[in-house]
Amino acid sequence: MVKIAPSILSADFSHLADQVKGAEQSGADMIHLDIMDGHFVPNISFGSAISKASRKNCSLPHDAHLMVTDPENYIGEFTAIGVEYITFHIEIGGKRIDLGHNRWVYTIDSGSDKPRIEKLIQQIKESGCKPGLTLNPPTDIKYILPFLSQIDLILLMSVNPGFSGQDFMPDIYDRLDMVDSYRREQNLAFEIMIDGGVDTANAQKLVSGGADILVSGSSFFQSSDFKGFIRKLKS
Ligand code: DX5
Ligand code: ZN
Repeated sequence: MVKIAPSILSADFSHLADQVKGAEQSGADMIHLDIMDGHFVPNISFGSAISKASRKNCSLPHDAHLMVTDPENYIGEFTAIGVEYITFHIEIGGKRIDLGHNRWVYTIDSGSDKPRIEKLIQQIKESGCKPGLTLNPPTDIKYILPFLSQIDLILLMSVNPGFSGQDFMPDIYDRLDMVDSYRREQNLAFEIMIDGGVDTANAQKLVSGGADILVSGSSFFQSSDFKGFIRKLKS
């Protein structure tokens, strides 16, 4: 059964405790934490203090999606609050593409910084968390393949990161198919998470394509019936 991970980026922060308790009671499986530094992505979200408040009020596993330039600096504090997964971007140290309107996205076009990525994966494992790796929509999927035997989670972005409520990019289906096929061919066990614009309109196709975890930000927190919405996403 697919797991649903509401992203608290779309929650009402003035009622965060109730929002995460509501997510837990409605059958959500995880809580997704979108951590943004205003440099790697064109937005600032929240850090470990807000994440800790969520963790304190909700016993579901939490996953930290670090959209930051220097993940090294954050692993300790997220480990300390008891997150289960720490996911970072393969484009760290890469090049910035200007998208206009004060927005941008990082990508790599000649391979990743392999020693740094492997060191980070190791650092996350040694801290007792599960390492996840993610890549942005413009980044060729081939760059992530060498790391898939070392991680527990691949997060496939179906929007350019930085904001919730953006339109789902349908070319994610081909990327999902590549990663899922590779997983079968190589007999690997990492989980596949899809993040960005997930809704009842695309959930079923994502699950049949091999997705294990669906992140849902605005579609979840804007629904009037959390439980009914989760049931629809899972059916
Ligand atoms: C985007 C974040 C997503 C986002 C999802 O940068 O990584 O997790 O909050 O929100 P929705 O589901 O509204 O696209
Ligand atoms: Zn995210």
